[in-house]
Amino acid sequence: MTIWQDLLDKAQSVQSREIGELFEKGNRAAGFSRETGPFLFDFSKTNIDAETLDLLVKLAEEKEVAARAEAMFTGEKINDTEGRAVLHTALRNLDTDVFVDGENVMPEVRATYARMEAFARDVREGKFTGQGGKITDVVNIGIGGSDLGPAMATLALAPYHDGPRCHFVSNVDGAHIHDTLAGLNPETTLVIVASKTFTTIETMTNAETAKRWMAEKVSDPAQQFAALSTSAEKTAAFGIDQARVFGFADWVGGRYSMWGPIGLSLMIAIGPEGFAGFLRGAATMDAHFRKAEFKDNLPVLLALVGIWHNQFCDYATRAVLPYDQRLARLPAYLQQLEMESNGKRVSMDGKDLPYNSGPVVWGEPGTNGQHAFYQLIHQGTRVIPCEFMVAAEGHEPDLAHQHTLLVANCLAQSEALMRGRSLAEATEIMRKKGFEGDELDRQARHRVFPGSRPSTTLLYPKLTPEVFGGIVALYEHRVFVEGVILGINSFDQWGVELGKELALALAPVLKGEDAGEGKDGSTRQLVARVQSLRG
Ligand code: F6P
Repeated sequence: MTIWQDLLDKAQSVQSREIGELFEKGNRAAGFSRETGPFLFDFSKTNIDAETLDLLVKLAEEKEVAARAEAMFTGEKINDTEGRAVLHTALRNLDTDVFVDGENVMPEVRATYARMEAFARDVREGKFTGQGGKITDVVNIGIGGSDLGPAMATLALAPYHDGPRCHFVSNVDGAHIHDTLAGLNPETTLVIVASKTFTTIETMTNAETAKRWMAEKVSDPAQQFAALSTSAEKTAAFGIDQARVFGFADWVGGRYSMWGPIGLSLMIAIGPEGFAGFLRGAATMDAHFRKAEFKDNLPVLLALVGIWHNQFCDYATRAVLPYDQRLARLPAYLQQLEMESNGKRVSMDGKDLPYNSGPVVWGEPGTNGQHAFYQLIHQGTRVIPCEFMVAAEGHEPDLAHQHTLLVANCLAQSEALMRGRSLAEATEIMRKKGFEGDELDRQARHRVFPGSRPSTTLLYPKLTPEVFGGIVALYEHRVFVEGVILGINSFDQWGVELGKELALALAPVLKGEDAGEGKDGSTRQLVARVQSLRG
């Protein structure tokens, strides 16, 4: 018997067990919660018992998660379909030397970081200006990992934002850049073109649009552009002065890149000190991930809970539900982090995966989601494991009563999901409302909550830069551990290529420059209709 099979059998055998029953013996909450630094991770409201946890930990050991993690941290080329090391952790552990191909990569990382700091200070203090004076607005143009991270972080850390306003343009839809630039003064705007490859069509198109917009008012627009990229040649060809080009190596994956130059907009927003706190929080999580035993290791446990739900209980999606309005972009960020990393059907050795790839990830901040899709989470036919997160305290002391309500809602949801409401309880409620007979039964059945629906809660004191950095690193390592257990290369993304190629080929067809030979009937019909509608 393999551990995998044991876990499948275990999932089968506990399928009808009520999660609530697990609380009848011992101190379930303490036994199935872990703390590190500012975080309490409570996974007691899942159907994982001591035996399951033990098996899951053994699974992580069998898959050599620790050795793979060390290989990552020490610069081995674990992204072997691209022949690259995976060293985003080097961007936040600036004191530790790391070698790739025998070369210490850290002097350059530190030098670039120092240049970022100096530039961020100059922008914030008005030493770097636009043609019209001090920079009032920063527009980050990027997409995917060159957008989601800094956009999420700038919103998350809004209470620390004391630099110029920041805007994020990602979509090739002209509406995005149009609406963003509409209210801005080109003479006091800094445009940051963020693209690891500096070839991404959306970003390059938007960057050209921004350049034209600026050129209408600014004599030398390139002076108000900065670039974040691995390609010095392409940034130079775009006309950006190398003094404002912040480079990084190919061992920083796009969706893992906000810790370095791609985080420049965040650094300008909250200042180098705040940014350093963000890195510190992540580095502390890195150290915990590297050192803590698996049974006490937050990223490993979060991954094991995820693997349990996705692989063994066959729950296809997971909801991420931050009770924190400023984490509104976290679900979108995690969609890229998790689904671009582990949404793969072939394992490292090129064989078909014998089980599901990573889950569908989705979510919204609470309490908004409660008034939208929680109905299905509570009473739908599918089980959706929920990952709640909440700060004990908000940043608005005058509105502490609102924060209390927020926390109460968060805790109440996980309680409701687990506890449910039986038919007997629902019947009693409806009887008191005056229903009887068949109608009583019918009305009561609509009000039954099956309960025993799993959730985890991540609790932290307050969303500071350190805490936020820790949360993001926690999720990064969770994705890594899940990928190792599934035998997936979490660091390539070949699945995004085909659509990009076809889009490039379709643009001339839409413009009527190419007949579109060989296109399927549906695509030809849609092209023809667009052409006729556009005249
Ligand atoms: O298309 C997917 C992707 O390659 C992501 O992995 C990446 O974050 C995004 O595009 C943007 O890429 P770049 O930073 O090179 O513009």
